[in-house]
Amino acid sequence: MKKLLHVVASPRGGKSRTLQVARAFLERFRERHPDWLVDEINLFEEELPGMTARQVDGKYILLGNRELYGELREKWAEIEQQIARFKEADAYLISSPMWNFTIPYPLKQYIDILVQPSYLFRYVKGRAEGLLGGRRMIVISSSGGTYTAPDALPYDHVESYLRTLFGFVGITDLCFIKAESLDGVSKTREKDSVDAARERAREVAAESFG
Ligand SMILES: Cc1cc2nc3c(=O)[nH]c(=O)nc-3n(C[C@H](O)[C@H](O)[C@H](O)COP(=O)(O)O)c2cc1C
Repeated sequence: MKKLLHVVASPRGGKSRTLQVARAFLERFRERHPDWLVDEINLFEEELPGMTARQVDGKYILLGNRELYGELREKWAEIEQQIARFKEADAYLISSPMWNFTIPYPLKQYIDILVQPSYLFRYVKGRAEGLLGGRRMIVISSSGGTYTAPDALPYDHVESYLRTLFGFVGITDLCFIKAESLDGVSKTREKDSVDAARERAREVAAESFG
């Protein structure tokens, strides 16, 4: 059975506008793809392992094409579990608000845990090669402001960062669904923006996921 992994990076549960859009996506996705399993990881509830000195030692050992050993193997068990769960998925849904022009910190921590040499990428003749090719990723993001105008676009480090990062590990088929202008404009603008994003999310969810 194929698997979609939903990565939740908003702490606001029922109040989250990002998750309202994600729920519209998932409702249609389940209808149209009954043969897919949906796994969900809530990064604000999950106890994510840290990347502190010993874990980082492991990363450099792997970068040097050596194997983890002894106590490091144990330190890395939780990291490997997170990587295995991520790699088991055939497609991804990331639900992330914009925080300070980029992603919330637990999503960055999750990425720092996942993106490891020999697991998500490797070097071939000195060039990095992503190991997760062929997988689709949908990113639902929301923000208080709007970043589509040319002068505002450079402030949006959500899309640019996630495209660069996941492209690096081989996931190049990314689709962004954004609900913008949600704060400080008007309730009508907020509702229209969320409704439009929910409609777009339903359309994307009905597409082929291979
Ligand atoms: C800590 C924090 C930082 C934020 N930083 C930004 C920002 O840089 N730009 C922006 O447009 N909105 C920012 N916002 C507003 C959120 O992106 C916006 O309210 C979003 O819709 C929240 O998503 P949620 O309803 O799913 O929690 C921030 C909100 C919080 C809580």
